[in-house]
Amino acid sequence: MAAVSTPPPAPNERPIAVFDSGVGGLTVLQELLVELPHEDFLYLGDTARFPYGERSAGELEQFALEIGELLLARRAKLLVVACNAASAAALGALRERMLSTTLGVDVAGVIEPESRQAASASENRRIGLLATTATVRSGAYARALAAQAPDAELISVACPDLAPIIQQGFPFDHRVVETVRGYCAPLRDAGVDTVILGCTHYPLIAPMLQRMLGPGVKLITSGRALALSVARSLEDSGLGAARLQEGDYRFLCTGDVETFRTLGSRFLQMPIEQVEHIQLPLQEAA
Ligand code: DGL
Repeated sequence: MAAVSTPPPAPNERPIAVFDSGVGGLTVLQELLVELPHEDFLYLGDTARFPYGERSAGELEQFALEIGELLLARRAKLLVVACNAASAAALGALRERMLSTTLGVDVAGVIEPESRQAASASENRRIGLLATTATVRSGAYARALAAQAPDAELISVACPDLAPIIQQGFPFDHRVVETVRGYCAPLRDAGVDTVILGCTHYPLIAPMLQRMLGPGVKLITSGRALALSVARSLEDSGLGAARLQEGDYRFLCTGDVETFRTLGSRFLQMPIEQVEHIQLPLQEAA
């Protein structure tokens, strides 16, 4: 008797894949889980190569392309680049590669939706950006903002050590407070009324930033703006999950699984159960 093969899942039943340099992108996944409760998610944290923020644009593009291939092989219906540094360096190349495959998968990044939200939030047209060196150096936020709000001025501050400091984590001590204060100073001096948190880790220090920048300053995080734009794009493409029950979420990581689980649940603020360790082709060399 011939073997009965199970048909592949319908396109809208496939998961949304999300990737980041590590656990930071879980702040973005959290917003997606809230906005799209019926979807399945597959999250990849490239923890073995964290941090991305001091790497070159060429390196980040290579990483993003190899991760994109892997997530495509896991039958993602949409690829979300949660990492600001990878979005800044690789979104165009990744989108071109993914759309050219037989599955024709689209790619969403964090920079455009976040810039759009900042442009509509700012009244005095002076907008601050806190981000890693790679993100600031790419000029991606400056370009996105110029397209959204040509009359706005962007004041960018590169924060090379901030993501690792936040990740090393709780309890935050005096050293963290002074580091954050130093990064906020140029934004206070410039009189910005809106600040883009251009890194996955920064929502974890939002209260500290708000206190130092002043209560009237609007903080824009990438997760919320992105989740709303992903919801809209699923609706437009007809790729939204049709089910009424909650979807599931699973994890892949390139580093230690236990560390991912414990550190990750702090960023996600939800339980993390299934985590699969994976090895990427270029991982050894990096
Ligand atoms: N996900 C990275 C970003 O948003 C966090 C920092 C890093 O990997 O250096 O840029």
